[in-house]
Amino acid sequence: MRKINISGNWKLNKTASETKALLVELKDAVATAQKTEIVICPTFVSLSVAGEILQGSNIKLGAQNLFWQESGAFTGEISATQLKDVGCEYVIIGHSERRQYFHESDSTVNKRLIAALNAELLPIVCIGETLEQRESEETFSVIESQLEGALAEVPEAAMSQIALAYEPVWAIGTGRTATPEQAEDVHRFIRRKIQSLYSEQISANLIIQYGGSVKPANAFDLLKQPDIDGALVGGASLDADSFAGIVDAAEKIEG
Ligand code: 13P
Repeated sequence: MRKINISGNWKLNKTASETKALLVELKDAVATAQKTEIVICPTFVSLSVAGEILQGSNIKLGAQNLFWQESGAFTGEISATQLKDVGCEYVIIGHSERRQYFHESDSTVNKRLIAALNAELLPIVCIGETLEQRESEETFSVIESQLEGALAEVPEAAMSQIALAYEPVWAIGTGRTATPEQAEDVHRFIRRKIQSLYSEQISANLIIQYGGSVKPANAFDLLKQPDIDGALVGGASLDADSFAGIVDAAEKIEG
């Protein structure tokens, strides 16, 4: 049985002291959740304080990116070991904002993924098409090549550590959510592709989260789709009540 994963991607929001305050609220708001894997990904500079606050809670800590080298002359970069040291269990890789604004490619996503796996971090690898690609009916081919590129040389044994997040770029921060059917279509496609790249068992156990304007009001209908196993939440994760509302929706999913 796949455990629903609700992850909050805080992007470039909140100072360290604001992080502290929001996490204190959030811990309380989701304290009774039992079935859901809950992850919060604050900015790098807040990870340390977040790690201390989240100790002993049901919220796991994640980072928004990592670099593939362990150490050395790479000004401005952060390694997997540094993330582990401050209590991170998860790391988001290949978010569309990284691809769009910071020139990430499938090949750099792959290097980051391998580094995360080697450090035993749990990667959430993001894929998704732009509006232009959707309108020109390239969604499935884009998803296919992003998957092949990101997962190059990733052995079957590592696949149980990885979650994927389908985030259609046109639904991120726009208030325009994919309908549950649109999202499910792509999630089903991803699961089939993973089956052909690996095996039925790997694909059946793979967590595929949906991201793009997820809110308490639409979370349940998205999460009850058979191939949607969680959410990667941006805006709505910055408010304790709305994030808790999404977690509540996850707790109500049967199974
Ligand atoms: P929004 O929930 O703000 O649309 O952001 C989604 C996202 O990019 C999560 O990684």
